[in-house]
Amino acid sequence: MRMYDLIQRKKEGKSLSTEEIREMIRGYTKGVIPDYQMSAMLMAICFQGMDDRETYDLTMAMRDSGEILDLSGIYGLKADKHSTGGVGDKTTLVLAPILGALGLKVAKMSGRGLGFTGGTIDKLECFPGFSTAISMEQFIKNVNSIGLALAGQTANLAPGDKKLYALRDVTATVDQMSLIAGSIMSKKLAAGSDIIVLDVKTGSGAFMKTLKDSKKLAETMVDIGTRAGKRVSAIITDMDQPLGYAVGNSLEVIEAIEALSGGGPKDLMEVVYALGAEMLLLAEKAENLDIAEKMMVDCVESGRAKEKFAEFILAQGGEDSYVWDTEKFPKAAYEKEVCSKEKGFVTGIEAERVGNACMALGGGRETKEGSIDLSVGIVLKKKKSMAVEKGEVLAVVYGNDSEKIKRAEAQICSAYKIGGTKPAEEPMIKLKISPRI
Ligand code: URA
Repeated sequence: MRMYDLIQRKKEGKSLSTEEIREMIRGYTKGVIPDYQMSAMLMAICFQGMDDRETYDLTMAMRDSGEILDLSGIYGLKADKHSTGGVGDKTTLVLAPILGALGLKVAKMSGRGLGFTGGTIDKLECFPGFSTAISMEQFIKNVNSIGLALAGQTANLAPGDKKLYALRDVTATVDQMSLIAGSIMSKKLAAGSDIIVLDVKTGSGAFMKTLKDSKKLAETMVDIGTRAGKRVSAIITDMDQPLGYAVGNSLEVIEAIEALSGGGPKDLMEVVYALGAEMLLLAEKAENLDIAEKMMVDCVESGRAKEKFAEFILAQGGEDSYVWDTEKFPKAAYEKEVCSKEKGFVTGIEAERVGNACMALGGGRETKEGSIDLSVGIVLKKKKSMAVEKGEVLAVVYGNDSEKIKRAEAQICSAYKIGGTKPAEEPMIKLKISPRI
């Protein structure tokens, strides 16, 4: 196989064989194929695309580039959930303990945040002592005894994707459907769960800005997972404004604890219940969606979900007393109200700008190695469709540095769109994608 010939063929719109794709990923992971040739291939894929078979082969080649986790020590079906990323997305923190309390085996691999979207691991590290660097034995033991455990992705999980993703990031080749689907699914398949439910975000704060593109991405990922023998489905959810009210690590954890106490924001709970119902159905723990939702509501109202969350935090070394007293979380030194300059209705809140405001405060990571300030963030007081008076508070910015607060304030001001007409409320759940039979 000559990489030159493969690039030439893809440039002409021809497809690559299974063996060629495997060789290419193997060679690139090992460093035999140089970045300049792989960059050319990525750009050719961006222009010519890949068919379904090629996309599947690419995913499997990246899955097989490293370790595949063996979760056979866990009794019963293992379930995982993946979100394509958004602002204020604390869904996992609420959903995982509910499902764990309902008898599901939640074996979750998570990442840290990069850029304007936060990562679940960073949020959980708001609990002093909490660690995701647990051994495989401990991970399996916790899933068996508690019902859930969360580990950070090991360096050897789909290393081919890791290398390719870094190259895509600097060659303007991230936003290609087959490359995104293959990248996400290679990691999910290597992580070893039997059930995978995908939360594909759509809107201004998402990777995919249109419903058409989100649907295509969801269908591609569900097809890949199903072909690989997994029980998979996807829910397309709204990310045209931040999810819930809180954005920023400890502020989001506090909102998640409120949700587990029965006081969760409506939009967040809609997403939690839709994803959870799907997971309970795929795991054969509920006969239909209504029963599944009722099980989850009862679990929250009885306090079992919150107790499960505290048990999970403690099992991974965290200070569980914070679950029962959220005043303990570190607070930012200053808070600044951002007020509306006009009367009207909130017609939109650009999620990406709110995420950037959090970054400006120091609450996000610019580089993979960067550190973050867990106490800073934004709490929205007004969401889309709400009426607002001139001078009324739109959001509160929490920060530790007055210059950074000023920059965040400017971002929040430009994120809010105020108009004279109340916009129609959009449904949170846009579509569900099930396997094509
Ligand atoms: N997340 C990933 O893991 N890969 C992509 O390509 C995009 C989002």
